[in-house]
Parts: sequence; structure tokens; C-alpha cells
Amino acid sequence: MLKLSRLLIIYFMFITNNKKINGKKKKNYERINIKIVILFVNCLKMDIANEEIKEFINIVVSLSTYDFSEYSEKSLRRRLEKIVNDNNCSLTEIIKKIKKNSDFLEKIVRDITVNTTEIFRDPKVWREIEKEVIPKLKKLEKINIWHAGCSSGQELYSMLMFLNEFDLLEKTSSFGTDINSEILEEAKKGQFKYRFNAEYLPNFDQVLNYNPEKEKVPYSKYMFISQQHDTIKINPQLLSKVEFYKHDLVCDKNIFGIKFDLIMCRNVLIYFNNNLQNKIFDLFWSCLTDEGTLIIGFHESIMGPAAIKYIKKGQCYFKKPLNNNA
Ligand SMILES: C[S@@+](CC[C@H](N)C(=O)[O-])C[C@H]1O[C@@H](n2cnc3c(N)ncnc32)[C@H](O)[C@@H]1O
Repeated sequence: MLKLSRLLIIYFMFITNNKKINGKKKKNYERINIKIVILFVNCLKMDIANEEIKEFINIVVSLSTYDFSEYSEKSLRRRLEKIVNDNNCSLTEIIKKIKKNSDFLEKIVRDITVNTTEIFRDPKVWREIEKEVIPKLKKLEKINIWHAGCSSGQELYSMLMFLNEFDLLEKTSSFGTDINSEILEEAKKGQFKYRFNAEYLPNFDQVLNYNPEKEKVPYSKYMFISQQHDTIKINPQLLSKVEFYKHDLVCDKNIFGIKFDLIMCRNVLIYFNNNLQNKIFDLFWSCLTDEGTLIIGFHESIMGPAAIKYIKKGQCYFKKPLNNNA
């Protein structure tokens, strides 16, 4: 029904546009026609029935430990539409292949995840961390930090550079986790494509070089940049300061057996529904020390029942110990 109404709208757009094609701006209308045809083709390709998505989720649950039933419907649908288009087949055919081939299932799980990340993503948040979290960390003898959903590691390595500037690196243990094992292998290498990351280098200056009274921190202190080889390599000393593990926030609990002073989980929960987000905020609460802080993404917030367990300041959520819960 949705598909039919979409196709009808596109058809009317086409008819209306063609009425204008004989007029003055003929070329413009012809160009619009091409765009409408592309829209039409995409619309034909992408529609997936809700039942197919439910079947996909159920099959994946029955064959593996992955459970996408509480991912945000919209974003899961968008990812599956992309997968279907990229594989040039229906979701039903993808499901058939998944049943026969566990490697293919793993590949599809990886394709569902969105791995966008940046060096010093959202500089404003790093300035908040400097103001609100660094003073707390300075008081500790040992610091444990968990980057949940760390993707290829840019955020985690940014944190190590940041900590080093406050002389906190030596006493820090850092852990990066993600559901996507392939992206973790990339993270471990600490080598990124220059062309995809160059535009984020100014973030480095906004976070580490914003104070004109302080000596400038050069990129070369932490990264070897080669435009010729199209690489940004993280200083090997930083690579040795972190451990990466595969971890699924949906079903795995605290696999580390320690509590964390800081948990960074930015731009991950946005892909989950409210119920799952709340479960994970509870999990993080139990994984934080009493003085611990959780940092989430700019477009994320704690709104459900777990909100009473934290005190919010910008993107920083400070753990409220149990006896303080109002
Ligand atoms: C958009 S990236 C965010 C990366 C980084 N935190 C940042 O903000 O730059 C989201 C990451 O969450 C991971 N992810 C998605 N579902 C997950 C789950 N159930 N458990 C753990 N990680 C998950 C994805 O594989 C992806 O690497």
C-alpha cells in the first residue's frame, strides 16, 4: 500500500513536470525528469514487507547470538534496504542464504552496523570532558575507560592523546568494544585512510590547540600523516595502551569484571529503540564506579526510567549512587 502510494506520487510528479517541458526552462525540467526516474527505480527496488523484516530478525536470533528485535525500526529497515540493493536480491533470498551459510550471516550483521566515526568527533563534547571529567580523573590512582561501540577506534585514540596532554595516560587502562569484529581489526591496526579522515584533523586543533597561551601540540606527536600513501598512522606507543574485544551491547554484560571511571558510548544507542536504550543505560550504571561518568552522543539522551540514575551536565551523565536515587 505504502509502495503504491509512493509510486503514484512519483507518477504525478512525472506528469506535472512533463506539462512544463515545452516551456522556457526545458532543460531544467528534463533534468528533473531524470531525477524522478531514478526515484522511481529506487522505489521499485527498496520496499521490504514488515513480515520479511520480522522473519529476518527471528531467523538471525535462532541461528546466532545476535538480536536486532530492539533496534530502531527505521534504521534497521534503512540498513536492510541498502543490503538488499547492494546484493541485488530480495530480503527473502538473503534469509535463505543466511540459513545455509554462517559466514554470510556474519557479513550481513556487519553490513547492518553503521561505523561512521571521527578523530575528536564533536569538539564541544571534548571541551566538556576537559571541564567536567578530567578534574575527577586527576584525583584517581588508576583510571579505567570503556569505549562501547568504538568502531575503527578514532574516538578511542583521540581519548588517549587527550589523556596524555593531562599526564593521565600512564595510569589509564582503555578498552574498546564493538559488535563488528572486522571493524575491530581495523581499530587494532590504528591506521586510517588520509582522504577519509583529513577533514577531521581540524577537530584536533579545536580540542588540543584552542588555548593561544599554550604551546601548540603538533599532529606529529600522535599521528604519522602521509598524503602520498593516503594514511594516518597512530603512534605505536598509543596502540599498545588499549585492548579491543568483541562485545554485543544487546546481550553481553560486563565482560571485564571491573568498574569503569568513564564509559564513552557515543552515536551507538541512536540505532536502538527506547526500551533497549534503557536496558543499556542500566548496564552502564552497574559498570560505573560511584564517581563514574557516562558520555553519550550529541543526538542521544537518557529519557526513560534510567534517567533517575544519572545527573546530566551537557553530554556528561554522572552516576547517582543507589541511595541517592530520588
Ligand atoms: C556510528 S558508530 C560510533 C562510533 C564512535 N562511538 C563514535 O561516536 O565516533 C556505531 C558503532 O556501534 C556499533 N554497534 C552497533 N550495534 C552494536 C551492539 N549491539 N553492540 C556493540 N556495538 C554495536 C557499530 O558496529 C558501530 O561501530
